[in-house]
Amino acid sequence: MTDHHFYQPALGHGLAHDPLNAIVAPRPIGWISTINPTGGANLAPYSFFNLFNYKPPIIGFCSQGWKDSVANAQASGEFVWNLATRPQAEAMNATSASVAADVDEFDLAGLGKAASRLVAPPRVVGSPVQFECKVTQIIRLTTKEGDELPQWLVMGEAVGIHIDRDLIEAGVYQTAKARPILRGGGPADYFEITQDRLFAMRRPG
Ligand SMILES: Cc1cc2nc3c(=O)[nH]c(=O)nc-3n(C[C@H](O)[C@H](O)[C@H](O)COP(=O)(O)O)c2cc1C
Repeated sequence: MTDHHFYQPALGHGLAHDPLNAIVAPRPIGWISTINPTGGANLAPYSFFNLFNYKPPIIGFCSQGWKDSVANAQASGEFVWNLATRPQAEAMNATSASVAADVDEFDLAGLGKAASRLVAPPRVVGSPVQFECKVTQIIRLTTKEGDELPQWLVMGEAVGIHIDRDLIEAGVYQTAKARPILRGGGPADYFEITQDRLFAMRRPG
């Protein structure tokens, strides 16, 4: 066994920087649009985000604190996930600004809105894939002792999915062609994936 740095997170990591989100990385970005109770649009990125089920498709994002996206998702029962890509990386980042609940981050970041078909929150113009979602669960996280934490996991069923047809070749979605961006660790690291790093491996039969 090689020499390992071992730590118990509750007692501190003992390193210059917390390695946690650099280890569980790169993470896809949940670029989430919602509508607030007065009808205003809201948009923010969440890297505590993933796909959790195929049928029906269920995705989730976790809010560190009761942020506008979770409040709006709870109040309206809806959100939209927009795929964040390299051409919109800076705009995505701009939508993470801490601003008042009534500020429309689409406007803040100079992004256009496209109407959704089945839910009220708009889609980001220029994002090549969007999932229109209905909230299925909002789960408050707890510690192992059962103490409630100020973090909320918002789960939603994708009821409508939009895909830029340029990303579909012979019926197959081209992941790298979309140029998705993924969150690394530290205050500023991101990764972009490229087709030349692809390798294939089938599951044992
Ligand atoms: C790439 C990226 C990922 C982020 N991931 C999260 C996250 O998983 N959870 C969270 O609470 N905040 C996350 N943030 C910060 C939020 O985007 C930020 O607090 C934002 O203002 C929340 O907006 P809202 O209040 O409109 O929901 C992230 C920011 C960036 C740039």
